[in-house]
Amino acid sequence: MSTLFSPIQLRDLKLANRIMVSPMCQYSSENGEATDWHFTHINSLALSGAAMFCIEATHVEAIGRITPGCLGLYNDATEAALRPILASVRKHSHAAVAMQLAHAGRKGSSHVPWDGGQLIPISEGGWQPVAPSAVPHKEGEPPPLALDAAGLARVCDAFVAAAGRAERLGIDALELHSAHGYLMHQFLSPISNRRTDQYGGSLENRMRFPLEVFDAVRAAFPASKPVGVRVSCTDWVEGGWDIHQTIEYAKELKKRSVDWIDASSGGVSPLQKIPLQPGYQVPFAQAIKEATGVTTIAVGLITEAKQAEEIVASGKADMVTLARGMLYDPRWGWHAAAELGGEVSVPPQYWRSQPPTQKALFGKTSFGTR
Ligand SMILES: Cc1cc2nc3c(=O)[nH]c(=O)nc-3n(C[C@H](O)[C@H](O)[C@H](O)COP(=O)(O)O)c2cc1C
Repeated sequence: MSTLFSPIQLRDLKLANRIMVSPMCQYSSENGEATDWHFTHINSLALSGAAMFCIEATHVEAIGRITPGCLGLYNDATEAALRPILASVRKHSHAAVAMQLAHAGRKGSSHVPWDGGQLIPISEGGWQPVAPSAVPHKEGEPPPLALDAAGLARVCDAFVAAAGRAERLGIDALELHSAHGYLMHQFLSPISNRRTDQYGGSLENRMRFPLEVFDAVRAAFPASKPVGVRVSCTDWVEGGWDIHQTIEYAKELKKRSVDWIDASSGGVSPLQKIPLQPGYQVPFAQAIKEATGVTTIAVGLITEAKQAEEIVASGKADMVTLARGMLYDPRWGWHAAAELGGEVSVPPQYWRSQPPTQKALFGKTSFGTR
């Protein structure tokens, strides 16, 4: 029996296996609106065999986008652009669809990665990014605008409005992006948060705004549907955010009934030194799970079926999520199920691809011709 291919329940959402397609920016939106690229990409990976697909970082206001090509959910046009994509997914896939709600903060107004990913100055069509403090991401860059009370309220309201739009779109679960050096992480990390008011200084103060956003989103999204949080467990910089603070944050989120912690790392400082190796962030998921009992998702250089199985079977994490591995092999879940003796849901158009040695892989199937 494979643990990876055993079910898990998050509130009323039942998942047939413990695999999620990790959120991946596609830098292919226009004015924050999803395009034909998203139609193809999302429909394709909704058939990966993962029980849940998480839509890329979806930004709650236009200046909260990382790049001009980033996805948004902040007006009727951005909502309308996602609707036919979700309708198609629902028609052809049984995968649950989560959405990652995000705000880039001081990492906003960047070029798309294949154009170098650097800050776009306002004079070249960029915009003024906002942040907890007027501290630039990279030395020498113009500083972001420090959010005042009205700005904080605006951003929190934007998360709530996006959660409402996500619910209208029929999204099954939300993940708040509190990682990778974006706005919520910028509040948590002492590297980016130099505030002297109630939102800066002590750990309690640095956690205040992200927790306010979580509370507001949780209250705005149906109680039957899960809301998880992606965290960076360390900045990989001496004196920055670390796993001990992450565990305190996870405890606060647990008090608020968070449904999962997706344990990632890094992103707040260009000075980070990341010791990359297979499964390098799994110990963070394990530490959070051991300290809090919260459902955890492990991510980062998980590429092999047996590796993923070991992570969940040993209880280091409850689920795994894959990003690059899914782009490389968009049927990763099928292949993992074949290797581990699991079963995946596959649309009837593809049933005939079931290998003759794997009669149970697609569950109950039948077809005939004359
Ligand atoms: C193309 C691409 C886009 C990404 N966009 C996001 C994103 O929108 N939100 C996020 O939290 N992480 C994003 N990530 C990070 C992945 O979700 C994942 O955490 C990371 O790639 C490590 O997992 P992997 O080794 O399975 O790729 C992105 C990664 C890639 C490769």
